[in-house]
Amino acid sequence: MHWTDQRPDDAMDGAFTAVGPEPVRTVEPAVFRGAAGKAGTTATAVCSVSDAPPTLLMCLSRRSQTNPIVVENGVFCVNTLGHDGAEIADIFAGRTGVAGGDRFVTGDWLTLSTGSPVLASAVIAFDCRIVEVRSVGSHNVFFGAVETVRAGPSGPALVYHDRAYKQV
Ligand SMILES: Cc1cc2nc3c(=O)[nH]c(=O)nc-3n(C[C@H](O)[C@H](O)[C@H](O)COP(=O)(O)O)c2cc1C
Repeated sequence: MHWTDQRPDDAMDGAFTAVGPEPVRTVEPAVFRGAAGKAGTTATAVCSVSDAPPTLLMCLSRRSQTNPIVVENGVFCVNTLGHDGAEIADIFAGRTGVAGGDRFVTGDWLTLSTGSPVLASAVIAFDCRIVEVRSVGSHNVFFGAVETVRAGPSGPALVYHDRAYKQV
């Protein structure tokens, strides 16, 4: 079933399992890459929407090379970077000239239920299945049903403020 055919209730069947820092499940390589391949971008436009069912949103420029891949795959993972995540934030923001799947050379990646890339060092990761997409201005707003939450190493998270990375 394509995500556009799913009702939020369907998408949340058996959902929201909190897991520890060790990988709990692996998938076939083709699933890991996703139907359209693997892509990722740095984003601060991420927000909680609902806790019943657990849902978040993220806003992605439709000009981003990541956007059509997320649309096609119908899944994504929000990886909240830890205090030492500035390098990977710059890579996934395209600031180092690395594009597409090559961005995943940096960091240790695993998968949970959707097959989206999950960063092992992320403070917390939200593995999501897309239940709705709204095109607003220059961006797509993706609503993701949170299927699995993975808590990584504890410690401060990375934030972006006043054009600089900081820790909270
Ligand atoms: C700190 C930071 C936050 C960003 N937040 C967003 C965001 O929320 N949405 C977005 O579309 N792009 C955001 N960007 C820009 C993207 O990371 C990326 O550079 C741009 O979308 C091009 O994407 P692409 O390299 O995947 O083509 C952010 C960049 C930085 C450095």
